[in-house]
Amino acid sequence: MAGINTARSLTWKSGRISLGQIEALKQRLKASKAPLKIVVTHHPFIPPPAGSNEARIDLIGRATMALQVLEEQRVDLLLAGHLHHGYSGDTRTYYPTTRRSALSIQAGTAISRRVRPSDRNGFNVITLDGDSAQVEVQSWTNQEFTPIAPRSYRRSEDGWHALGGETTIAD
Ligand SMILES: [Fe+2]
Repeated sequence: MAGINTARSLTWKSGRISLGQIEALKQRLKASKAPLKIVVTHHPFIPPPAGSNEARIDLIGRATMALQVLEEQRVDLLLAGHLHHGYSGDTRTYYPTTRRSALSIQAGTAISRRVRPSDRNGFNVITLDGDSAQVEVQSWTNQEFTPIAPRSYRRSEDGWHALGGETTIAD
C-alpha cells in the first residue's frame, strides 16, 4: 500500500501529483511483490457518477500521467475522499484508453457533522476475495449504519471492471 499527499496548500480544492511523487510511486510499486496493490490519495481519480449533485469536480491534477504508471505497475485499488461522497467505479469508464483498469473507491463523510444537507454520514466496507471485490456503503439512517448500494467488481487480465453497469452514488 502506498499513500500520496495530493493536497496543495495554495489550492486546497484541487489536488495534484507532482512529477517527483509519480517517479517515487513508480519505484515503490516496482519493488512491491504484493498480490494486491493499493494507492491512497486525498483527491479522487474518477468523478462522481452522472446525476450527482456535485457541482464542481476536483480530480487529481496529472491524473492521466499518474494512471499510466499505476496501470504499468498493476495497481488494483485507488482509495480517495475529498468530495465527501461514497462512490466507486473502474478507471476505464472515465479513461477509455486504459489498458489495465483499477478499482477507484471514494469514501463519504464517516463521523463529522460537517455534511452537506443532502448527504448522510457513511463509510465503505470493501470485501476482497481473490479476483472479486464488493464495495458496500454503510449509511447512517435512523440512529444506525445500514448497508446500501453494494457494487461488485471482478479482476481479469485487463484489470478491474464493474459488474452491472455504471457507478452509483450513495450519499
Ligand atoms: Fe479535501
